[in-house]
Amino acid sequence: MQQTSNLPIGVFDSGMGGLTVLSALHSSLPQENFIYLGDTARLPYGTKTRETVIKYAEQAASALVARGIKALVVACNTASGIALPALQKRFAPLPVYGVVEPGAIAAVHAASTQAIGTSVVVLATESTISSGAYQKAIIKLAPQIRIFGRACPLWVTLAEMGNRDANLTRDILAHDIRGFLQKGSCVFLLGCTHFPVFSQALTEISTTVSVVDSAATTAGVVAEKLKTLGLLTDNLLSDAKHGQTRYLATDGAARFKQVGGQFLKCALNEVELVDL
Ligand code: DGL
Repeated sequence: MQQTSNLPIGVFDSGMGGLTVLSALHSSLPQENFIYLGDTARLPYGTKTRETVIKYAEQAASALVARGIKALVVACNTASGIALPALQKRFAPLPVYGVVEPGAIAAVHAASTQAIGTSVVVLATESTISSGAYQKAIIKLAPQIRIFGRACPLWVTLAEMGNRDANLTRDILAHDIRGFLQKGSCVFLLGCTHFPVFSQALTEISTTVSVVDSAATTAGVVAEKLKTLGLLTDNLLSDAKHGQTRYLATDGAARFKQVGGQFLKCALNEVELVDL
């Protein structure tokens, strides 16, 4: 029987967005194996009700748990903000990590390096904004920070379509952030894992704002916690070996493989179609 620490780490999102988190996990934990699931058949999660997000998140997590994983990373802000406690309870003692707290840490850190009074603008899905998850996580860390929230539901579709550089995409991004550009110094927190593909476009639209996301901080938290739990793979002992990643999607495997590289920043190998 395979030792728990040598099992893969499960990662899921509603679609390809979570690949931005997977990319950071690959950098922080190069020897680990991963299984990534994109629930593309049911995307977007960000416009669904709380009950539906919890149900979909539990089904996605179950599919990964059934394949044998040692930890789960919820690489979706919508599912993290709404379903994380339910997932942690249902799959205990499996360690389950979300992206909202790490995202809040990244934003508060970025704001602390800017002018006093810098505010944080959370750009996320409708469900993430209305859940108040980021607002709560940021206030816990820095009660004095002014926080604004903006739901940007169209961005998820634009990102999944691979339209990150089209003029129409830039017009939509500019339209959605316009109201915040006059508010003085601010940090844009990309509170949706699909949005980092627009980081460059956003900094071109406004050269004065700083843009952060939760990917690197999440990967750092996961690496640290797995180390503490003694769950890092033995492959760490042989520095020549790099881990493998298996990709699963609930629809459009060919498209996932083709567009996914924009999120992962490298080509994906085969994508298997699965049913939840
Ligand atoms: N990538 C997901 C997130 O981080 C949501 C996209 C969706 O609406 O499904 O919130």
